Order: sequence, then C-alpha cells, then structure tokens
Amino acid sequence: MKHMYQAQYGRYVGMVEETIAALLPQTQEDCPKMGGVIPAHLCETMRYSLLAGGKRVRPVLLLAACEMLGGDVEEARTAAAALEMIHTYSLIHDDLPGMDDDDYRRGRLTNHKVYGVGHAILAGDALLNYAYECMLQNALAHPEHLEGHVMAMNAIAGRAGVSGMIAGQSLDLLSEHMEPDADRLAYIHAHKTADLLTAPLLAAAYIAGADEEDFRALTRFGMCVGLAFQIDDDLLDVQGDAQQMGKQTGMDAQRGKMTWPALVGVEASREKSAYLWDQAEDALARFGESAWFMRAYAEKLRMRKK
Ligand code: IPE
Ligand code: IPE
Ligand code: MG
Ligand code: MG
Ligand code: MG
Repeated sequence: MKHMYQAQYGRYVGMVEETIAALLPQTQEDCPKMGGVIPAHLCETMRYSLLAGGKRVRPVLLLAACEMLGGDVEEARTAAAALEMIHTYSLIHDDLPGMDDDDYRRGRLTNHKVYGVGHAILAGDALLNYAYECMLQNALAHPEHLEGHVMAMNAIAGRAGVSGMIAGQSLDLLSEHMEPDADRLAYIHAHKTADLLTAPLLAAAYIAGADEEDFRALTRFGMCVGLAFQIDDDLLDVQGDAQQMGKQTGMDAQRGKMTWPALVGVEASREKSAYLWDQAEDALARFGESAWFMRAYAEKLRMRKK
C-alpha cells in the first residue's frame, strides 16, 4: 500500500512538473503559445516563483480527483498546471510589501525581493493571465469535450476570483489588527484558501463528467481540507520550522493577522483542524475504494510540517 501510494504520488507530481515545464515560456525566442516575442526578463520572473519547488497540492488534487472519478487524466493536465500558476500568482502578490510583506517563499527570497515590486506584480499578472490562456487553448483543442473544459474553467475562475480567493485576501487585509471574530475568520479562510483547494476537485469533476452527488461530496471534502489546511498554516506560523517550510514564521502575530490561534489559542486550533480532517475523510465515503489515493493524500497533508 505504501509503495502504491508513493508510486502514484510520484506519478502525479511528475505529470504536473512536466506539464508546467512544457507550457511555461522559456526564452524570448521560445514562446510559441504567446504568439510572439516576450521579454526574457518576464519569463525569468515567472519561472523564478513557479519553479521554486512548491508542494503542488492543488494540481495533485486535480489529477487524483479526475482519476478517482474515472476521467482521462491526460485531459486534465493543463488545468492542473494552470491552477498551480494561479496559486503561485496569489503567493507572489500575497508576499508584496503592500500585503504580507514577506522576504522568503518556497525556500528562496520572495519575487519582489529579487526583481522589485513592479516586476513581481507583473510576474503575478502574467501567471494569472497565462493560466487562462493555456486552459482556453486546451479547451479549443478538445472540441469533443468543450463543455467540460469550459465548465472546469468556470469553476476555477469563480473560486480564484472576486467572490473567491481575492475576496478572502481582501477581508484578510481589512481584518489586520482587529479583534478576532469567528464568523469573519471563517469567511477569510473559506475564501482565501478553501476556495482554491475546492477548485481542482470541481474542475476534475467537470472534466471527468461526474454526477450531482459527486459534486456535493467533493465540495464538502474540498471545504474541509481547505479550512483545515489554513488552520494548520496558521499553526505552523506559530510553531513550525522556518527552514523546513521555506518561509518565515511568527509573521502573523507581527502583522496582527486574524488567525485561528489568535482567536482560540493553539490547543483549540489543533482540535478544530483534527475535526475538519476527520470530516474530510467522511466526505470521501461515497467513493469507496476508488478514493484510496485521495484518502492517503489527505492523511499526508494532515501530518504536514511544511
Ligand atoms: C500556501 O500554500 C498558502 C496557503 C494557502 C496556506 P501552500 O502551503 O500550498 O504553498 P506551496 O504551494 O507549497 O508553496
Ligand atoms: C495566503 O494565506 C492565502 C493566499 C491566497 C495566498 P497566508 O498569507 O497565511 O499564506 P502564507 O503563510 O503567506 O503562505
Ligand atoms: Mg496573506
Ligand atoms: Mg502570507
Ligand atoms: Mg500563513
């Protein structure tokens, strides 16, 4: 079982890395998808953050969900890579001086520390736009499955956009130095993090052609995983190892962020996270044996130290 898990995980991550490498513009001469010449510097700023070794959680979830539902994983590769581009853009912007003002990400200096704020903003903008460009071209290349791909893009756009991750980030900023409030914090976590972790599951469901009950179960699974993931991120900021995580710790308290530990303390945050991980596992019951990888992957995420 352990062997099987490692092999499957390696396969998914390998597919993600391969697809990202194939899609990403490399030099100003080598950008066929961009339909022309783009500055080598812009390519470099995009590659710097995207190829910095993130965990690839969202694209792995997308590929795993697609296979769990009996879909063709080859058809899901572009959406998986694009989602990682969107996530990476959200991190580049999240680290900017006007937002969380962080110096380290994915084990290296943040994008704006290396290239300056202007170029970091553009690297994020570029990754965001390029993600949709790649997904649109992929959809047009599969006219027989056009609707599934368009619906997948719609699910991603909604959860990454103004009523999704960006809404959460907006309230996150607005809530700095405020007295922690449970409803407000639930909104922040649901949108800034859980939405981008639910997006791959729903995108996979559209690409694979799932039924209504599958959608309900996957939405519940994604929400539980997403909320638990952000509580764990808040806990790691208090107690984690900066070296291992590749980003500084103690920054939330310093910036007066509204977090779970600030609301209820470390112990109660741990309990809440454990409850949500249990709920996530329950949500997979409907998929039986076909969810073996998803179950094992959720267990790994639950134990994560970075
Ligand atoms: C970091 O996401 C931002 C949060 C939502 C907590 P990840 O922990 O998935 O970061 P990477 O992609 O591995 O760098
Ligand atoms: C970030 O939350 C969520 C995003 C949408 C990027 P955090 O601000 O807590 O993430 P880290 O700790 O910087 O990775
Ligand atoms: Mg933030
Ligand atoms: Mg941050
Ligand atoms: Mg954090």
